[in-house]
Amino acid sequence: MAFVTHRLSRGFSSSAVRHVVIKNITIIGGGQMGAGIAQVAAATGHTVTLVDQHENILKKSVAGIEGGLKRVVKKMFADKPEAGTAFIQNVMKNVSISTDAASAVQSTDLVLEAIVENLKVKQSLFGGLDKVAPSHAIFASNTSSLPIADIASATGRLDRFGGLHFFNPVPVMKLVEVIATSSTSQETFDSLLNFSKALGKTPVSCKDTPGFIVNRLLVPYMMEAIRLTERGHGSREDIDTAMKLGAGYPMGPFELLDYVGLDTAKFIMDGWSAVDPGNPLFAPSEMLNKLVAEGKYGKKTGEGFYKYK
Ligand code: CAA
Ligand code: NAD
Repeated sequence: MAFVTHRLSRGFSSSAVRHVVIKNITIIGGGQMGAGIAQVAAATGHTVTLVDQHENILKKSVAGIEGGLKRVVKKMFADKPEAGTAFIQNVMKNVSISTDAASAVQSTDLVLEAIVENLKVKQSLFGGLDKVAPSHAIFASNTSSLPIADIASATGRLDRFGGLHFFNPVPVMKLVEVIATSSTSQETFDSLLNFSKALGKTPVSCKDTPGFIVNRLLVPYMMEAIRLTERGHGSREDIDTAMKLGAGYPMGPFELLDYVGLDTAKFIMDGWSAVDPGNPLFAPSEMLNKLVAEGKYGKKTGEGFYKYK
């Protein structure tokens, strides 16, 4: 662990504060987000331990990271394949895997959680790790929609808890939303901000409000696309084509829903409608609920709104 002193960056005052230089990180959840964050963190020189519940999931995560790095290397070392292979080997030396979160956090600077979008499960994870992680370690959640303060409430380190919200696919999307609760210290916020920059990302500062910035705009848009289809006002294919060619989006809303995961989309909507049931933007969708009940979560299960090989 190292500390750096610098000027405040949130604009609240001009006094000097310290921030933790995050070098060793533990990522809990080796799914699409956790593996993507691990890839980027390892490639930027951080030591990463990736934790999931089962060894077979972690094997897939590692294969996914290697696959992602091959795409990077194809461009970076187009004329030097041997240097590309060496780069991948060196990056992979920064990655270790574990099914034991408690031992993985023993000497960590940051615990970053990217597990299922469920408040109780996230609270239980962080509550347990709070007892065993070093006192200087910062905890952060990659939640898409849950209040960071509610997740943090399971721990005794409210000042060292914040949100770090990445976007899918992590190696490609340049944004990170850095979220401070009313208890997050300036030192923690600055550490998270600097960590995001060290990953080569562009951070934006967010309040702990539902969906922060991107999802508060993006998720209601995707849900409205489903409702348009439910009303029979457009096919999913036509809506996707329309938004790609008419609005310049790289994916249409149904393609993006499948990419994000329909289970995650439903968790987000269920959480928001429980808090604000009268809000028509958060109204549940029968079509989405049916697909999720059938186990059709999108690209990751091979079928959602569309079928995948
Ligand atoms: N590692 C490294 N590089 C990767 C990669 C990976 N895992 N995956 C893709 N890339 C690179 C490719 O090498 C390629 O690079 P070049 O263009 O330099 O050759 C580039 O990314 C594009 O990849 P592809 O050619 O395979 O695919 P594409 O052009 O069809 O783009 C996409 C794919 C980037 C996903 C694009 O469709 C896109 O931007 N879609 C929208 C994604 C989006 O909106 N994400 C946000 C979702 S919301 C969210 O994440 C928040 C939440 O809480 C739910
Ligand atoms: P995912 O289903 O791909 O992966 C979740 C992983 O967490 C699974 O491998 C699962 O085995 C593991 N897991 C669940 N409970 C665990 C526990 N107690 N301990 C260890 N591992 C556990 O999900 P994802 O798409 O990677 O999303 C993860 C988180 O990131 C969610 O909170 C989601 O809202 C958020 N997020 C998702 C996206 C997206 O586009 N999918 C984007 C930004 C943020």
